[in-house]
Amino acid sequence: KKFKIITIDGPASSGKTTVAKMIAQKFKVPLLESGALYRFVTYLLIKSEKSIQTYMENEDLLINFLKEAFQKVKIELTSEGTFIYWNGKLIKDELRKEEVENMVSQVSANKKVREFLTEIMRKLGKEDSLITEGRDMGSFVFPYADIKIFLTANEEIRAQRRLKEKMGKVIYKDKNLYEKVFNNIKFRDKLDSQREVAPLIIPEGAYIIDTSNLTPEEVLNEILKIIK
Ligand code: C5P
Repeated sequence: KKFKIITIDGPASSGKTTVAKMIAQKFKVPLLESGALYRFVTYLLIKSEKSIQTYMENEDLLINFLKEAFQKVKIELTSEGTFIYWNGKLIKDELRKEEVENMVSQVSANKKVREFLTEIMRKLGKEDSLITEGRDMGSFVFPYADIKIFLTANEEIRAQRRLKEKMGKVIYKDKNLYEKVFNNIKFRDKLDSQREVAPLIIPEGAYIIDTSNLTPEEVLNEILKIIK
C-alpha cells in the first residue's frame, strides 16, 4: 500500500464522503466516516429517556450511558463505508434524519463525547491502511497521517449538493427546503468551527482543494496526484 492513513476534512457537504469512498474503493482500504459515529451518538441520546441537555450537564451520566450503549455496538469498516450495528441492527437511515442533523453539532462539541469517540477511532486506525473523513481527523485524531486533505466549497453549492443527496435530484423551486438545508449547513459549520475541543480547522500540512467547480472525478484525480 502507498499509504497508511489519509485524512479528508472539511465543512458539511464539501464532498468528503463521496471522494473518500472513491479512494477507498480504488485502493481497497477501509473507510472511516467519523461523522457517522457522531450522528450515531446523537441518535442514541435522542432515543434515550433523558433529555440531551441532562447528559450534556452531567459528565458521569453521559460517560456511563456511552459505555453501556457501546457494549452493544459493532463498527464495521469497509471500502464501501462505515457500518454501525446496534443490538445487531444496522443503523443507517436513522443517522440522516433531521432531528439528528439538528442536534449533532451540539453533541459533538461535548468534550467527553469527543474523547470517547476519538479513542474508538484511534483503535480502528491501528491495524490496516485507512481512509478517514470528518472535521478533526488530520488535525487531532490522526495527526501523523501520511496525507492530509482539506476540502472546501462555497456555501450555496454545498447546500445544493446536500439537497440533491436528500431528494435524489435538485429541486430549486422549493425555496423553503433549500433554505432549511442552507441554514442547517451554516449552523453546523459555525458550531463545528467555533467549539473549543478539536474544532474544524485546516490541519497543518494539509493540501487544500476547493471543490466548488470540480466534479467528484476531478477531485479524485487531484488527490491521486498527491498520493503519487
Ligand atoms: O460529516 P457529517 O455531516 O456526517 O458530520 C456530522 C456532524 O458530526 C458534523 O456537523 C460535526 O458536528 C460532527 N463531526 C465532528 N467531528 C468529526 C466528524 C463529524 O464533530 N470528525
